[in-house]
Amino acid sequence: MTQVSEEKVWQALSRVIEPDFKKDLVTLKMVENLKIEGGKVSFTIVLTTPACPLKDEMKKSCNEALSQVEGVSETEIAFTARTTTGTFTGKAAIPGVRNVLAVSSGKGGVGKSTTAVNLAIALKALGAKVGIMDADVYGPNIPMMLGINTPPKQEGNRFIPPKGHGITCMSMAFMVPPGTPLIWRGPMLHGVIQQFIRDVEWGELDYLIVDMPPGTGDAQLSLAQLVPLSGTIIVTTPQEVALSDSRRGLAMFQKVNVPILGIVENMSSFVCPHCHEETAIFSRGGGESAAKELGVPFLGRIPIDLSIREGGDHGMPIAIGQPSHEISKAYQEIAGKLASAISILNAGAKPIQIAGFS
Ligand SMILES: Nc1ncnc2c1ncn2[C@@H]1O[C@H](COP(=O)(O)OP(=O)(O)OP(=O)(O)O)[C@@H](O)[C@H]1O
Ligand SMILES: [Mg+2]
Repeated sequence: MTQVSEEKVWQALSRVIEPDFKKDLVTLKMVENLKIEGGKVSFTIVLTTPACPLKDEMKKSCNEALSQVEGVSETEIAFTARTTTGTFTGKAAIPGVRNVLAVSSGKGGVGKSTTAVNLAIALKALGAKVGIMDADVYGPNIPMMLGINTPPKQEGNRFIPPKGHGITCMSMAFMVPPGTPLIWRGPMLHGVIQQFIRDVEWGELDYLIVDMPPGTGDAQLSLAQLVPLSGTIIVTTPQEVALSDSRRGLAMFQKVNVPILGIVENMSSFVCPHCHEETAIFSRGGGESAAKELGVPFLGRIPIDLSIREGGDHGMPIAIGQPSHEISKAYQEIAGKLASAISILNAGAKPIQIAGFS
């Protein structure tokens, strides 16, 4: 039997290009624990996010490259991840939290919280540790959407946040007695956000998702400035009025130097469950064309579907309640693209500049 040459194996792997970073696996130092036993080559690929959507593609490329090396009869490729850490526009990071992402919109009711919850679950399903900070001062409803009925435990001045479907959650809803109207003044908001950042035991998280209140007023701007954010996604519905609001949202984040990771179009169309005819209730394609016009990535679209609304109301988001549903797959795809965008950003790519805003 021909002895497999380690040098040839490294040469073959240095021809495998990582699709996001457009460099080879060896240059990127992504290959570890290389072992050659007879004709069997085994190694581990170290990813920058456990939620990497490109594992199968990379495995296939490695196998193709190694099939050219004399003597290789078998391969065993494992994956592990060391999630990279974001930069937080000059602010101190939250201990243990690697990336903090806002989910925002210029306009209310477009499905931010629904998107935040389902993306959190999709990222977790891809292998990431995820939390949600419900920063919606007007209507914090993440605990309800995650089916959480217990408040955080308080130990001295530390909060131990509850979990719903494996997602750690701290919410504005826990900070006021139920039914109390939420009127937040500047210093109060400042105080609570400081507590969320300083006094909550978030634990080790790859991604902390911040559900923002709707709009681009003072409260939103303060939040964008107070929370150490590494990036934001914008949720929009496809029609023009929602889009012009989203553009304002994008401009606000750009003003505070938070990178825009992309646009998600929600409530894209409605397929009648009876006659299967598709109706574009809020128009069509607006999210994608806005992304193009503004020069930010388009992350994907989610249709209007009764099971999304029901899942949210019953504390059982569709992404966990019906994981093989088409819509859950769409959330997974968006989560994968988002994780890639974050890894690319963390690798030092310049934040995207939005055309038309300075
Ligand atoms: N794609 C969808 N299909 C069906 N219903 C949806 C969809 N997205 C969101 N909804 C429903 O629309 C309502 C508003 O959604 P959600 O609360 O997520 O919006 P929001 O942008 O967070 O609102 P707010 O601005 O008040 O925070 C909820 O009842 C939710 O279940
Ligand atoms: Mg909301």
